[in-house]
Amino acid sequence: MALNITIRTDEAAAARTPLLVLFHYQDRDEPTGPAAAVDDQLNGLLSRVINRGDFSGKAGQTVMIYPEAPSAPAERVLVVGLGTPDEADGQALRRATGHAVRKAESLRVPELTAVLPEPWPDADRSMLARSLVEGAVLAAWDYRELKTGPTEDDEPVVRLTDVSILANDEAEEEELRAAVDVGRIVAEAENLARELASKPGNVATPSHLADVAREIAEEGGMEITVFDRAAMEEEGFGGILGVAAGSEEEPRFIVMEYRGGGEDEAPLALVGKGVTFDSGGISIKPSAKMEEMKYDMSGAAAVLGAMQAVARLRPRVNVVALVPATENLPSGRATKPGDVLRMYSGRTVEVINTDAEGRLILADALAYARSFGPRAMVDAATLTGSVVIALGHHAIGLMGTDDNVIEAVRRAGEATGERCWQLPLWDPYRKQLDGEVSDIKNTGGRPAGSITAGWFLREFVEDVPWAHLDIAGTAWKDDPEPYLRKGATGVPTRLFIEWIRSHAEQ
Ligand code: BES
Ligand code: MN
Ligand code: ZN
Repeated sequence: MALNITIRTDEAAAARTPLLVLFHYQDRDEPTGPAAAVDDQLNGLLSRVINRGDFSGKAGQTVMIYPEAPSAPAERVLVVGLGTPDEADGQALRRATGHAVRKAESLRVPELTAVLPEPWPDADRSMLARSLVEGAVLAAWDYRELKTGPTEDDEPVVRLTDVSILANDEAEEEELRAAVDVGRIVAEAENLARELASKPGNVATPSHLADVAREIAEEGGMEITVFDRAAMEEEGFGGILGVAAGSEEEPRFIVMEYRGGGEDEAPLALVGKGVTFDSGGISIKPSAKMEEMKYDMSGAAAVLGAMQAVARLRPRVNVVALVPATENLPSGRATKPGDVLRMYSGRTVEVINTDAEGRLILADALAYARSFGPRAMVDAATLTGSVVIALGHHAIGLMGTDDNVIEAVRRAGEATGERCWQLPLWDPYRKQLDGEVSDIKNTGGRPAGSITAGWFLREFVEDVPWAHLDIAGTAWKDDPEPYLRKGATGVPTRLFIEWIRSHAEQ
């Protein structure tokens, strides 16, 4: 069930709510802005809590206050630390909001009312409202569809269903509404990506992804083409078919076209790896944690999430989205190490390791994407274990051929809290892929595994301005941000949407 977001014009001190949420900057010795009015009403109780030194406003710190009955209509007042104003940004507010939502959940409170903090340098109240909504919608989401417990109606668990934000007056209410809508659409897009990545491989199959894509295309008035195995054979998608060879489950190659810009304007292209389960194939993976490889379609999930947001926000720009989707399984028909595939581009690839399958399906998608003459292209893929070794779980690996695209993507990552760190696609790395019996091999050995994977993709991108995001370390987290839960993060859905919006004429 989607979270309801309401904007209200009550005074903070007069808000009737089971949980009033205030934010406080670190080391400020008294409440500021609307929080000051609440403090007055509580006879300086907030100031005393702050001055006692028990609560500094450090990011993630919280304190709960229970006002005496006549002093305030709020049943509880939660103060959440935002860190210092210099450090504060959208991500800090998303995190702080995440803490507030978790508190509401543990108290079994269905509604909370939030008072926006004082804007930090270069923020305005619209931006605060948007980040707060993103934090709340992301934090409230949970993947529950496969639990057969009580139904929504007779559920004993109380869930957070309503968030209210306080606006200064009716004029501001109008202004905040647009920002709240964007925040909700962006967070719901990311939740769609999280849902798809959370679904097991027997549910989120390639045809399921195609069904979801069709619904989005319908909502957004987009053109959609879905290639099945037979159509892919006709077109010569040897990379996708080579990976799909071991699977009974039908592969799909999904292509969506959104036209929000000029007739002749070159589109932006998004490409996402859609391996709905990666066993490794004949080069089979060890069994420990293999079940997590259902999220090997996280790149595809983020592309679909971003396209849902595009359908709803209707940016004035053309976008084409490409999702090659297949399982990677061993069988008597599976591609074997040493087999050579003829790719869509016509080039030949020796499959050294069938577990390096993502690059094979992406190579076909990237080569096909070129036929749309994109002005820029970005792909996202849970591509290499090696990027987890290089960057851990806190940065997306960023590579590419074009400094402008790389910089725009990097900035979109900073703005949305989905941060990227660039790795070099320098020439000397390329020779690790030199083929012996074929044009190129699908693996380049252990050194710089993320970079050689990026180089492999580059061979099929050719001269399109392009950036590649390796999300193997960031798409799934055991120790996530406070506004997420353990599991799928939806990365880089927000980055994609921001990148697209940064190209739209206003
Ligand atoms: N899907 C994996 C990469 C992966 C690893 C994603 C860990 C998420 C977490 C990918 O298909 C893969 O298996 N890559 C191999 C490539 C190697 C065989 C060259 C890897 O990284 O080990
Ligand atoms: Mn693999
Ligand atoms: Zn994979």
